[in-house]
Amino acid sequence: MAITAFLPGIRYVGVNDRTTHLFEGLWSLPQGVSYNAYLVIGEKIALIDTVEEAFGSRLFQHIREEIGDRRIDYLVVNHMEPDHSSSIAALRQLYPDITIVGNAKTLHMIAGYYGICDGTLEVKEGDTLDLGGKTLTFQLVPMVHWPETMVTWCAEEQTLFSGDAFGTFGALDGGITDSQVEVDRYWNEMRRYYACIVGKYGAPVQKALQKVRTLPVATICPTHGPVWQRHIAEVIDLYDRMSRYEGEKGVVVAYASMYGNTEQTAERIARSLVEEGVEKIVVYNLSVADPSVVLRDVFRYDTLVVGSPTYNGELFPPVEQLLRRIETRCIPHRNFACFGSFTWAGAAVRRMKEFSERMKWEMIGTPVEMKQGYSQAVCEPCRALARDIAARMRETK
Ligand code: FEO
Repeated sequence: MAITAFLPGIRYVGVNDRTTHLFEGLWSLPQGVSYNAYLVIGEKIALIDTVEEAFGSRLFQHIREEIGDRRIDYLVVNHMEPDHSSSIAALRQLYPDITIVGNAKTLHMIAGYYGICDGTLEVKEGDTLDLGGKTLTFQLVPMVHWPETMVTWCAEEQTLFSGDAFGTFGALDGGITDSQVEVDRYWNEMRRYYACIVGKYGAPVQKALQKVRTLPVATICPTHGPVWQRHIAEVIDLYDRMSRYEGEKGVVVAYASMYGNTEQTAERIARSLVEEGVEKIVVYNLSVADPSVVLRDVFRYDTLVVGSPTYNGELFPPVEQLLRRIETRCIPHRNFACFGSFTWAGAAVRRMKEFSERMKWEMIGTPVEMKQGYSQAVCEPCRALARDIAARMRETK
C-alpha cells in the first residue's frame, strides 16, 4: 500500500516546501515545512485544505495520482491562512462543481481573499457532512490560529484534521506518519512553530484541547508536519504545556553587545549560574541569533535573563525586538532578571524594569548595571545576581 494511504479512505496529498526562507516572511525554515492536505474518500470525496499557491500544481498532481479523473465533491477549509488556502481559486477552476465548506467567518474570508461567493456550504459547530461511508463533523476552534479556524473529525477512522494545532516546522522526509519519519527531529521544531505562530493564543489552544480530549482520537492530521499516530500523547502533552506557558527548569541568557562589554557580563552571569548549580543554560547573542530559536527557548524554559546596552537613550534594538515579541505573546510568568550598560546616561536597565512591570513578572535580584567598560568590579554583582536567580529557581516548581 502506498504510504499516502495511511488509513482506509484517507490519502495524503500535501507538499513539501524546502525553498522558502522565511515562513510568514518572518520565521526561518532550516528544515523546510510541509503544507498538508488530505483526501477523505467515501461514496463522495472531500479534500481537507489546500496548499500554498506556489505548490498548487503539485497538490493537483498528487490528487490525480490518488483518484484519477474522479470528481472532488467538497473542499473543507479548516483554516484560511494563505499557506493553506491560496490554491483554492485554482482548485475551483479545475473542479468547477466542487462545494466549498466552511463556517461563516471562513466564507467571509474566502470572498475577501479570492472573490469566491458561490458554490459554498456554511457549517456550524457540530454539523456533519455525510460522504457515504465517511462522516465529517466540524468543530470550531477560534484563534487556533485565526478566528475562523475549525477542526474536522472523521468518526469512522477516529481521525482529527486539526489545522495548525499539533503542527510543526520541518518538511516530511519521505514518510508521512510519525512511524515513518525520524520523529525526534520534530520536537524542537514543534516548540519553535508553536512559539512563533500560535504562541499568543494559549487560552484558545486550551479550549481546543478540551474538545480534543472528548474524542477517541487515533490519528491527528495537522496542516504542517507528520501525521500523528504513535506519539499522540506526547504531542498533546507538549501543546498542553506550551499553551499553559509552563517552562521547564532552565535559563535563557539573551543579550546584545556593541563592543563586547555587555557580552562579557552575560558570560560571567552564565558561568556564575553554573557555579550555583543551574544545569540547563542557553546563551544567545541577539544580534546574530535566529529570533525564532530564541523565542522557542523563552517558551521552553522557566527563567529569562536579558542584557542590553543603552543605545540612543533606549534599549539596543535587537533586545527591544525580543521583549516586544514576548510581550505580544502575553507570556504570563517567567523568572526574570536583567543587566545592562551605558557610557554616559543609563536607560537599558530602566526599560527592562518597565518591561517586567508591564508583564507583571517579579524581577529577581539587583540588575547588574555597568558604566563604560567591563572590569573585575562587575564580577561580584554578577555572582550575586546568579545566586538570587538560582535561589528563585529552587523555590519555583
Ligand atoms: Fe499554517 Fe495559520 O497557517
